[in-house]
Amino acid sequence: MKKRMISGIQSSGTITLGNYIGAIQNFIRLQDEYELFVFIADLHSITTPQDRKELQHNIRSLAALYLACGLDPERVTIFIQSEVPQHTQLSWILECSTYMGELERMTQFKDKSRSQAEKTANASIGVGLFTYPSLMAADILLYDAAFVPVGEDQKQHLELTRNLAQRFNNKHGETFIVPEPVIPKTGARIMSLTEPTRKMSKSDPNPRSFISMLDPLKTIEKKIKSAVTDSDGIMAYDPENKPGLSNLLTIYSVLTSKTIDELVAEYADSGYGAFKADLAKIVVDTIAPIQERYHEIYASAMLDEILDTGAFKAQRLASRKLEKVNKKIGLGRRRK
Ligand code: AMP
Ligand code: TRP
Repeated sequence: MKKRMISGIQSSGTITLGNYIGAIQNFIRLQDEYELFVFIADLHSITTPQDRKELQHNIRSLAALYLACGLDPERVTIFIQSEVPQHTQLSWILECSTYMGELERMTQFKDKSRSQAEKTANASIGVGLFTYPSLMAADILLYDAAFVPVGEDQKQHLELTRNLAQRFNNKHGETFIVPEPVIPKTGARIMSLTEPTRKMSKSDPNPRSFISMLDPLKTIEKKIKSAVTDSDGIMAYDPENKPGLSNLLTIYSVLTSKTIDELVAEYADSGYGAFKADLAKIVVDTIAPIQERYHEIYASAMLDEILDTGAFKAQRLASRKLEKVNKKIGLGRRRK
């Protein structure tokens, strides 16, 4: 039997080239080998303020992008997190055995709460941003997933998920599979194009810092060509001293089959300009066909059918698991 694998992406904006390289490319590569579940983490996206209309659009848009990027609904179960209520139910249970100290250590919480505090006058930060990792653990543990394909930034959340699974198993007997992260060797952390020491993020206030999968092709070309590099003109992979150039080399390498060493040799004498122009073409050639498929899928009734089927299948597994968990803890009652 195929091992099960699950992952999700938040619907808090249009996904970036970072999401595509760090997560989606991996989903597509793994969809034959594993029984794959991929969802739209809409509940996670409301941990920061969202506009209702935009959220509705972003949820459908992410589902359409999954398909446009190449996820095959015949093989992959695609669903919306909030349409499977067991996620929030198990999340509550896991929150009750997650320690405050564990959540306080999460770097994503520290980063996001800091930027949230800067945005709001009275520094109001929702509790959901704090307990976010317990919901993520529930997403994974509900499905007995052995593997979770994610980018580098999710490693800490996965470690917590493993601890929560083990803690529950120790107290109540074997219940959850302890999952392992699957992190790509190259491209697990694509950096910002304007500040290459920070990761590329769809919530970055500067749109020049990221490439959105739905950016006009001309904009994509411009963003790559004006990406921050350095001024010494030496073609080399050195993330510490040449973070901008190294990031571009990484993107080039993962979107083609060329290794970074091959690229450094190929462009040694041609300067950054020619390198960036070629890279811009490669990125555009990758994204253009995805955009073509996207618009048709977004407007189709087929998308709703796929999401209905996905939610139905996910609910069946999730409700069975939750029933077991409730029983082990002693929640509810046994009929006389
Ligand atoms: P998020 O957009 O935070 O929901 O992330 C969804 C997935 O994309 C997760 O697996 C992340 O680890 C991955 N991801 C997000 N940003 C990047 C990035 N800059 N580079 C590589 N992977 C990323
Ligand atoms: N927290 C993940 C992110 O921001 C998204 C996510 C939510 C996720 N639940 C998940 C990823 C479960 C993998 C498995 O990238």
